[in-house]
Amino acid sequence: MKDQILLVQNEALSAITATQDSRQLEEVRVAVLGKKGSLTALSSGMKDVPAAEKGAIGQALNAARQAITEALEAKQADLQEMADRAALVGIDPTLPARALAAGAIHPLTLLRERAVGILRRMGFALADGPEIEDEFHCFDALNTPADHPARNEKDTFYFDSGKLLRTHTSSVQVRSMERSTPPLRIIAPGTAYRRDEIDSTHLSAFHQLEGLYVDRDVSLPDLKGTLEAFLQELFGAGTAVRFRPHFFPFTEPSFEIDVKLEVKGQAPRWIEVAGCGMVDPAVFEAVCQSRGDRVFDPDVVTGFAFGMGLERLAMIQWGIRDIRLLIENDVRFLRQFA
Ligand code: DAH
Repeated sequence: MKDQILLVQNEALSAITATQDSRQLEEVRVAVLGKKGSLTALSSGMKDVPAAEKGAIGQALNAARQAITEALEAKQADLQEMADRAALVGIDPTLPARALAAGAIHPLTLLRERAVGILRRMGFALADGPEIEDEFHCFDALNTPADHPARNEKDTFYFDSGKLLRTHTSSVQVRSMERSTPPLRIIAPGTAYRRDEIDSTHLSAFHQLEGLYVDRDVSLPDLKGTLEAFLQELFGAGTAVRFRPHFFPFTEPSFEIDVKLEVKGQAPRWIEVAGCGMVDPAVFEAVCQSRGDRVFDPDVVTGFAFGMGLERLAMIQWGIRDIRLLIENDVRFLRQFA
């Protein structure tokens, strides 16, 4: 019996050495150690071995099983290493990795996120509305008369349906008041469109940030304090801010806001950054009509609104001379903001 065990063991070991791949190796394992394997068959012969020899035969069986198992494992490791090596033929794994080009956040996005961040900390919530608007939300409800130049076909993109690409984000003021009730404090960053000739300060698609605050007893000092604080956080503490009387159809009184800034390479000067004003009662009246209730009754609520051009703010912030740089996707320009 001992000889038989040795025979099986030696056969198994040379079969293992001869295998070329792990499928063959598995076949050898099954043929020797499997349920019907040769060593398994010998083990079941143990019951017929005389008691006196049981110890020695048992030991021989165990030794054979162990030697075969170790040989199987070693061969499997060899085969794996050979496969790994074959996979690497022609590849030099010690070469340094190719550098991945890292992108950068676009300056307009940087500016918008900063502006939105400041206003959100002040308690304004994000709002939005459609870019394809109707005349009611873009003009009529904002107290803009039918003959106002902004409504001209030459200045505004109209669709055959009579809809239009919104010329400003002020339409979101009306949309927000239609769907919620005061107190209301919203900001709406978004795209606006005008049929402007494209040059160093004009694009036909550009971005604005609109704001609206409506409550009881909102006053002009609230407007001034809020926007001064906002602009000083954006452009630096101590930045001088002035409110210059102006006209907008949807606010009364209305102002343009200037900040005194030193654009890189230029002498300090007043630069216009935003329009604003106290919401005109006619706007509240139009909202009441559209809602069919009086929750925005101009005898009860007041509010302020403001709007600013985001490209313009970015240009001021970084001394960008030509607005077209913001849409040309020239990496030499964009890389500077990485
Ligand atoms: N909608 C104006 C524009 O596009 C900007 C503006 C001015 C918005 C005054 C306002 C505002 O909310 O109160 O030029």
